[in-house]
Amino acid sequence: MSDKIRVMLSEEEVNSRIAELGAQISKDYEGKEVFLLCILRGSVFFTTELAKRITVPVMIDFMSVSSYGDGTKSSGVVRIVKDLDSSIEGKDVLVVEDIIDSGRTLSYLLETLKQRHPASVKLCTLLDKPERRVVDVNVDYTGFEIPDEFVVGYGLDYAQKYRNLPYIGVVELGEEA
Ligand code: IMP
Ligand code: MG
Repeated sequence: MSDKIRVMLSEEEVNSRIAELGAQISKDYEGKEVFLLCILRGSVFFTTELAKRITVPVMIDFMSVSSYGDGTKSSGVVRIVKDLDSSIEGKDVLVVEDIIDSGRTLSYLLETLKQRHPASVKLCTLLDKPERRVVDVNVDYTGFEIPDEFVVGYGLDYAQKYRNLPYIGVVELGEEA
């Protein structure tokens, strides 16, 4: 029983868009260091690929958050499961996220981070589903805006599976492979 996956964004499309984002970020942060804050686990693939395309000095640290909710809907209250190892005080922080859906997780997290007195906080997401937004979030860098479909691959999972796909796809549930 394997699910059928329809390709939404090919490996080439994703990688070339990440290279563009890296170039833009390198330009915008010229003369500075950028502190990439990778949100585990979904953003790992995106963060490493993006980091390789950034030419200014880069630091990377990880945070794992879980939002209280009923499983399908995030409540907007975020619990930090694993905090950063390093301080962000005075740093130019770029939060790297896999996908922004309702916006609840990110809006809560950004407020929390601002209380730690970074020099700046910006947000970079590989994917954005604007139709699903419930809470306003200011996104500085977006890879792709996508329609309201559940996607997997490039770090995104469906019940912890498919994170390792090198492209973005849609799981066609109930389909025979
Ligand atoms: P929200 O913006 O607070 O609703 O939550 C965004 C989080 O929900 C993301 O970081 C993902 O972990 C998860 N998520 C939302 N949409 C998808 C999807 O299409 N595929 C996989 N995970 C998703
Ligand atoms: Mg996530």
